Amino acid sequence: MKTQTLINTASELVAADKGLLAMDESTPTCNKRFAALGIPQTEEMRRDYREMIVTTPGLSAGISGVILYDETMRQKTKAGASFVQVLVDAGIIPGIKVDTGAKDMATHPGEKITEGLDGLRERLIEYHEMGARFAKWRAVFAIGEDTPSQSCIEANAQDLARYAALCQEVGLVPVVEPEVLMEGSHTLEKCSAVTEEVLQEVFAQLYAQRVMLEGILLKPNLVLPGKSCLQQANANEVADATVTCLLQAVPAAVPGVAFLSGGQSAELASLRLNAMNIRFKSRLPWELAFSFARAIQQPALEIWAGQLANAAAAQQALLHRVRCNQAARRGEYNDSYEQS
Ligand code: 13P
Repeated sequence: MKTQTLINTASELVAADKGLLAMDESTPTCNKRFAALGIPQTEEMRRDYREMIVTTPGLSAGISGVILYDETMRQKTKAGASFVQVLVDAGIIPGIKVDTGAKDMATHPGEKITEGLDGLRERLIEYHEMGARFAKWRAVFAIGEDTPSQSCIEANAQDLARYAALCQEVGLVPVVEPEVLMEGSHTLEKCSAVTEEVLQEVFAQLYAQRVMLEGILLKPNLVLPGKSCLQQANANEVADATVTCLLQAVPAAVPGVAFLSGGQSAELASLRLNAMNIRFKSRLPWELAFSFARAIQQPALEIWAGQLANAAAAQQALLHRVRCNQAARRGEYNDSYEQS
């Protein structure tokens, strides 16, 4: 295991006020986002869209790493440069989503188990050879009457840990993503209890699989009331609940926590990250960073809308969200960012 390389890469990914840009939507997910805006769902359109993102001038000022998907990892710009090379040339670390999706879990109605361990070592070696330096695996947990079950939490946590161990073996930093979903009418307190239980199990399994914690990043959800809960929470309440929960479960050896956005609006994701950094940044062992897909991409995707002529304006919208999230990492984000 290349211990020092893993440690260096993990800390570089959460250095200063930078964060990760997730553009690792699977083909079905990317097509779903395109369909919602009437954009043709073809490989060439997905390529055009991803070229627009990776060629954004100045992206590296706020983005340390970009998470790609298998299709995107193999694609090139119209000028013939691989997306991986474009990122490396810009000083951005390429990463790759390596799970093969969350599937219905047998005998567990309403619950999912993430697949992708079969053949993973060989795929990781290939991605490393292609230039990836970190990877991502996402497990999802839905809150319901009787879910998530202990068996769903254990199975997903063990698979996350087995993935993480394999990544470190080949020199890729594993981004460990256990996502407690926002859907439902549950309270903030319920989300906090479930998130804490999930994170504790994930770290128990990471220890059991002998994963080196200094060489991983955690990508969790924020602690939020369910989308349809009548009692919503303000940014300070979310910040307090999230950090309190993380402190119960995340060892100090972990260099960084890079949150997913999970369907929050772009502005709320920035506001809540900002509140956490204002209130806690100086007293925490880990960096509080971002690894957003929708909360960075969505405004840009809407402007781009499948038209080459809109690419420059879409890139500006993307950069705007990046700058907002950089400010949130510093605890300096405020309304004026959205008015400029
Ligand atoms: P969102 O920020 O849109 O939740 O996506 C993050 C991600 O990488 C999901 O796996």
